[in-house]
Amino acid sequence: MSDIRPLVAGNWKMNGLAASISEALAIADGANSKRANADVMLCPPATLIAPMVAAVGGDIIIGGQDCHRAASGAHTGDVSAEMLADAGARAVIVGHSERRSDHGELSADVAAKAKAALRAGLTAIICVGETAGERAAGLTLKAIERQLMASIPNAGVDASNTVIAYEPVWAIGTGLTPTADDVAEVHGFMRAYLSQDDARRQMRLLYGGSVKPSNAAELMAIANVNGALVGGASLKADDFLGIIEVYA
Ligand code: PGA
Repeated sequence: MSDIRPLVAGNWKMNGLAASISEALAIADGANSKRANADVMLCPPATLIAPMVAAVGGDIIIGGQDCHRAASGAHTGDVSAEMLADAGARAVIVGHSERRSDHGELSADVAAKAKAALRAGLTAIICVGETAGERAAGLTLKAIERQLMASIPNAGVDASNTVIAYEPVWAIGTGLTPTADDVAEVHGFMRAYLSQDDARRQMRLLYGGSVKPSNAAELMAIANVNGALVGGASLKADDFLGIIEVYA
């Protein structure tokens, strides 16, 4: 699988004002000078997509954090995949655990959003991950399989337009990470699952959950880990570049 180009994506969540564009500029500069052998992406809040594309869109990929399943309509407060694409985004995260828990999104909703992303020409980054309770009960792989089955659209999906991010819910923003063996087990399982379909075999599999400069090298070296989805540590250029550095 070594011919899969890695992706390091930063999810700014509900953080960032116009002044934060300077951080994105520092990230783009640093990523360029490190000549990272990986794609670098930032997913700012929707309000910053257009200005960030204008500032750094030539150097790094800009993505959204969520989209509605419809292209337009009476959905107050929502943003469609077409609108993200129109603002210059090239990707969108769907099914993040914070969307699943804060907004009650089910895997069927996630699949509809992923389908919308593909319809708009965006790469879909589909997140899956077990809760602490599922892990404690030995149900991790079952939970991942269930989410993969229901969150990935049935048609039109291939390694060029879809990325899977494994994010154990209990590892997000907690400073906790699974052991390397645990990550290897889940990523190996996901690779085997996707390999049932030739078009999905080479899909990029990101690890996310408390990735930081001090643990990135170990996590990114694990078999079938093709990059990272980074929350907190993507907000500061020095931290995010310390993670990108793994691929320099
Ligand atoms: P974290 O978040 O890096 O702050 O743990 C990861 C994520 O939610 O994608």
